[in-house]
Amino acid sequence: MSPTLKQSTGPQYTRIYGFGAARGDRIVPNEELIGPIDSSDEWIRQRTGIITRTRASEGLLAIDLATDAAKEAIEVSGVPADQIDLVIIATISNVQQTPSMAAVVADRVGANPAAAYDSNAACAGYSYAVAQADALIRAGAAHYALVIGAEKLSDVVDPTDRSISFLLGDGAGAAVIGPSDFPAISPAVWGSDGSKAHAVTMNSTLIDYRDGDANWPTLRQEGQTVFRWAVWDMAKVAKQALDEAGIEASDLAAFIPHQANMRIIDEFAKQLKLPESVIIARDIETTGNTSAASIPLATHRLLKEHPELSGGLALQIGFGAGLVYGAQVVVLP
Ligand SMILES: CC(C)(COP(=O)(O)OP(=O)(O)OC[C@H]1O[C@@H](n2cnc3c(N)ncnc32)[C@H](O)[C@@H]1OP(=O)(O)O)[C@@H](O)C(=O)NCCC(=O)NCCS
Repeated sequence: MSPTLKQSTGPQYTRIYGFGAARGDRIVPNEELIGPIDSSDEWIRQRTGIITRTRASEGLLAIDLATDAAKEAIEVSGVPADQIDLVIIATISNVQQTPSMAAVVADRVGANPAAAYDSNAACAGYSYAVAQADALIRAGAAHYALVIGAEKLSDVVDPTDRSISFLLGDGAGAAVIGPSDFPAISPAVWGSDGSKAHAVTMNSTLIDYRDGDANWPTLRQEGQTVFRWAVWDMAKVAKQALDEAGIEASDLAAFIPHQANMRIIDEFAKQLKLPESVIIARDIETTGNTSAASIPLATHRLLKEHPELSGGLALQIGFGAGLVYGAQVVVLP
């Protein structure tokens, strides 16, 4: 008979220790984008809430933004970099299919030889990565995790596209996750609906591009389809995440939804019946939609502007291309 294999177990609970952020170095106002899409500053403000978005200059890559955000998160967390044994980067905009950004960032921040990989769950990517880090640490597969959402979406926008390009920004947000004496990351409500893959997608493939049959692939969306799905289905997912956490909307200190559209954020707040006391992240106004980076960036800003939120409960929900979604409640560091 073969010997019984050893199995690992970890701590009962995990929590977020600290956040880091890096936004694109350029502030891009609506006026800069409206010409080729026959739009106006007023239309973009009214329909999306975006006044400016941050984008990264040519030489500044998503991996650089990820590195900067990670360094801040590690410093703030107080966890020595060499104790981090798991690095997950949620992204859809790495310019190379391999190597992963995560392996390179792990090395750059002093976490070599951490297990490191990129994961693609679009705008739900950060929520997915938090769920993975929490589960892997509790299973004993890692001790401290660095979770990063990093995007340079300006690499995959077409300035003449009216469906999505004007929404998008560049940035990276990072969080360090480790063991906790109390529950501080609730079970994730996560899932997908690939039957709606066409609702947010690329307009061509790399093969079409290589063969000269198409231009460089850029993002497209069916705005109204996504809008309706977000407002109806995602509000239900947000409520489910509260149930899974065993709390009520009135227990929340903050609500940090994916920064997709200010009207979607307002509609969520209405449907969740959030009391006035709950502070709502509205980073989209000056950052735009940064996909996987949007929730950690918005959280970082919220904690800077409202340090009293520390120790409070935040509901976070990401949703986007796939379609995919992920939501959970976390205790803010
Ligand atoms: C993209 C989005 C802002 C468009 O707003 P909308 O209110 O749905 O706009 P519609 O598509 O209904 O179009 C309304 C009008 O604006 C026009 N329009 C569409 N895009 C426009 C643009 N970029 N600039 C100016 N006008 C525009 C349309 O032609 C239409 O004109 P009409 O009324 O004369 O026919 C919105 O649908 C949205 O935010 N969707 C969800 C985005 C999202 O969450 N994505 C997640 C993936 S990360």
